[in-house]
Amino acid sequence: MNYQIQHASPADAEVEPYDLTALNANLSGTPYQNKFHYYPTIPSTNTHAMQQAAAGAPEYTVYFADEQTAGRGRGGHTWHSAPGSGLYVSVLLRPRIVPADALWLSLAAGLAVREAVLQLTAILIPPLATPLAPDLRWPNDLLLGTRKFCGILTELHAEATRVRHVVIGIGINVHQQSFPPELSALATSLHIETGRSWPRQQILVALLKSLHNQTAPLSEPDAAPAARLDLIERVEAASTWIRNKQVIVGEGSAEGPFRGTTAGLDERGFLLVDTPSGLRTVLSGGVRAAPPQ
Ligand code: BTN
Repeated sequence: MNYQIQHASPADAEVEPYDLTALNANLSGTPYQNKFHYYPTIPSTNTHAMQQAAAGAPEYTVYFADEQTAGRGRGGHTWHSAPGSGLYVSVLLRPRIVPADALWLSLAAGLAVREAVLQLTAILIPPLATPLAPDLRWPNDLLLGTRKFCGILTELHAEATRVRHVVIGIGINVHQQSFPPELSALATSLHIETGRSWPRQQILVALLKSLHNQTAPLSEPDAAPAARLDLIERVEAASTWIRNKQVIVGEGSAEGPFRGTTAGLDERGFLLVDTPSGLRTVLSGGVRAAPPQ
C-alpha cells in the first residue's frame, strides 16, 4: 500500500495547528532547533528538501507541512496528504557514508518512528492502557496489526563513492477516522487504532529526537560498523517480518514476483528470503504477506 486517502475530515477537536514557538523550545538541545520550516501547504516536503539540499541548506534542516498536494511514496507512488490528517516531514542529513549504506539510515528511521509511537503511548493524557508497538515491514513500512499507518521515503544525491545529502521523508496517518473500502484492509491511522486524538506536534518532537538518536551513529565512519550490527539486532527484535514470514517479493519490480520465507537481514541490511531455488536477497521490491497455499 503506497498511498492513503483522506476519506473523512478529522473531527474539529482534532484539528490542532502547529505551535512553532513551542516546537522550537521543545527542540532545544537537538540539532534541529531553529532549523525547521513549516508549510501550511506544499507539493512535497521531500521534493522541497532535496532542492534546498542541492542549494546548500545545512544538515538537520527539517521541512514539514500540514498538507502536501503532490506527496510522493516509494516506487513512484503517490502519498495523499490531506490537510490536518497526517504528519508529513522530511529531514535533511549529510552523512559521511557511501551510497550503498543509505539503507541503514532508512531502516533506522523505521525504528525511530516505532520508538516515538511507543514513547507517546505512555505520555498521552490519559496514557493508553496498552502500549502501541508498531511492526516494521522491511524496508520501511510501519504497521499496526496488519495495516500500514506510516511510510518512509529515503532519497539521496550521491557520487559513486560519496553521499552528498540524504532526505528522509516520513508520512504518518494520524487523524484519519476511516479509509475507503478498497484501502480499509491495508491502511490505518493512530486514531483508528486507539479511538483517540494524537497530537501531531508531540509526535513530531518525539520523532525528531529519536531519529537523531537512531541515525547519528550510522553517519560516522568509525562508529558505523558496530552501529549496523546493533541495528540489525534491533530491527529483527522489533519486526515480525524479518524471519519465518511467508512473503511475496517484488511485485511490480524487475526482481519479482517470487514467494518465500524471510530469513533475516544480510550484512548490508537487505532482506534474505528462502525460496525453493535457494536463498535470495531482496534488493529493491517491497514485500507483502503471502496468502496460505
Ligand atoms: C511510502 O511509499 O510508504 C513512503 C511514503 C512517504 C511519504 C512522506 S510524507 C513526507 C515526505 N514527502 C513526500 O512527498 N513523501 C514523504
